[in-house]
Amino acid sequence: MPIIRFPKDMKWGTATAAYQVEGAAFKDGRGLSIWDTFSHTPGKVKNGDNGDIACDSYHLYHEDIELLDRLGANVYRFSVSWPRIYPNGTGKLNPKGLQYYHNLVDRLVEKGIEPMLTLYHWDLPQALQDQGGWASRNTVDAFSQYAETIFREFNGKVKYWQTINEPLCAAFLSNYRGVHAPGYQDLQLAVDVSHHLVLAHGKAVKVFRELRIEGQIGTATNTTWREPFSNRIEDIEACRREIGHNIDWFLDPIFKGEYPQYLIDWFEKKGAKLHVEDGDMEIIQQPIDFIGVNYYSGNVTRFKENTGLLDIENIEIDYNHTHIGWPIYADGFYKVFQYLAQRYGKIPLFITENGACCMDELVNGKVDDQDRINYYKQHLTAVSRAIESGIPILGYLAWSLLDNFEWADGYGKRFGLVYVDFQTLERIQKESYTWYKKVIANGWIEI
Ligand code: BGC
Repeated sequence: MPIIRFPKDMKWGTATAAYQVEGAAFKDGRGLSIWDTFSHTPGKVKNGDNGDIACDSYHLYHEDIELLDRLGANVYRFSVSWPRIYPNGTGKLNPKGLQYYHNLVDRLVEKGIEPMLTLYHWDLPQALQDQGGWASRNTVDAFSQYAETIFREFNGKVKYWQTINEPLCAAFLSNYRGVHAPGYQDLQLAVDVSHHLVLAHGKAVKVFRELRIEGQIGTATNTTWREPFSNRIEDIEACRREIGHNIDWFLDPIFKGEYPQYLIDWFEKKGAKLHVEDGDMEIIQQPIDFIGVNYYSGNVTRFKENTGLLDIENIEIDYNHTHIGWPIYADGFYKVFQYLAQRYGKIPLFITENGACCMDELVNGKVDDQDRINYYKQHLTAVSRAIESGIPILGYLAWSLLDNFEWADGYGKRFGLVYVDFQTLERIQKESYTWYKKVIANGWIEI
């Protein structure tokens, strides 16, 4: 069987996010987040699921780190729950919240696993939402104070930092499509929020540099790839819009100091105007150290007038799909790397999420998730092709260590290398865990 080798210094690990795994939602002084409110609103999350308990990693983090250690991971990406640190978003600090992350980080470091800390993975303090949320520039200032607290606290212990996870989702899924918290359907609001998220990113990076915090800081961007259904210019432009909405809209401001004009015009045509204040773009355009790439899926797309925000339609062709219904398109992963390199130069990339949702079944104490292993093989092959073509890829983090609260899909959609029994909270290693462990130990995959 052919073997694909990865560079010796490649980092390997897994990723999770606070609201998806921690649980302990009302414990030790944590404030409410918009996801507590949203998930407790009937009809918003499948089966009425919520993150009150989730994987209970708040109490069981030792077990999680044990799993990471046995896996051989050398990086673990987690996010800090802002309302655990500032229950009201600003003002009074919650020492118990900080202590939890110290315990987590210290234990990781003890085990030789580098923590990668994400400041914001969508759980905005509800108290800030009540004052306008990300539509208000006060939230941007609150975020930069929160970021400063975290930077000062964990300086020296944490070497990889991420500001905001997937601003696309936090802006558009949350405020235009309404399927994520806080659940609005207002394009102008989504465009305003998207600018404030990018601005919040810039402010946090500025603070990071001013305080001379150790380590490297980056973002985590949703990426996707689209192949045009035909050679018609409308179809090519439709794909361009979708890729650009994911990538250009959020990264051009950082790397080029401007939003892409074609999307500004597009949103205007749809009735929403971009509002940028003097000085914003200088703040946003702070150099960052790496781009975090989150990639799951790609598709074939064509233009269809008056369809959603971008006037696009995805065409069902013969791709396989994961259990969440997303087409599997590993070539798109490779194309995303090339796209980022062409558009933004040789900035290092860190794959901060990649993984598959599968219909996992626990049979005689085992989960034989060959589909997930195949998904990983195909996507790691794309990673290797990109590395060979000269793209600097620092590391690869599988989404996710554990099955967890999959946002509006609740617990029915599993992405973990480790199966979680949500009744008993027992963690059971899947076949993909054993497979990934070998990949990390060997530094190669068999395809
Ligand atoms: C998010 C994760 C999520 C995963 C699968 C990413 O967009 O960052 O929180 O669980 O996709 O949907």
